[in-house]
Amino acid sequence: MKILVINGPNLNMLGVREKNIYGDKTYASLIKSIKMHAKDKGVKVKCYQSNCEGEIVTAIQKAYKKFDGIVINPGAYTHTSIALLDALKCVQIPTVEVHISNVNEREEFRKISFVREYAFLTIAGKGFDGYLEAIDKLIEKN
Ligand code: DQA
Repeated sequence: MKILVINGPNLNMLGVREKNIYGDKTYASLIKSIKMHAKDKGVKVKCYQSNCEGEIVTAIQKAYKKFDGIVINPGAYTHTSIALLDALKCVQIPTVEVHISNVNEREEFRKISFVREYAFLTIAGKGFDGYLEAIDKLIEKN
């Protein structure tokens, strides 16, 4: 099984950005724990991060027939991007949406998610563990 983990804008700045919300662990440490977890579970994982909406659309398109599951934290594009939703609908790959923070208990605009329309599950507010849980849920579904 092959899983693509996508992180959107500003998630490369984990460990620097708003530590009170996202914690002090870095993006590199997130990727390390995702890779260790995938290895433990016997699945292949590719991690991708971009600050550009179109590049994320392209990454999703390229996953067509190549990946069996997607974990996506679209960052702020969660709340704005129909293009990401449409790309996920194109490729029809089972998807879990992840947010490090609890988007439902923050500003009103963070409660809106276009990606949620396609994802079979949304995990929010569980920190980095949310990504690991998302991988488990994709394995269960496969
Ligand atoms: C986020 C929540 C978004 O609202 C925000 O724009 C992010 C990160 C999260 O992981 O909690 O960049 O997706």
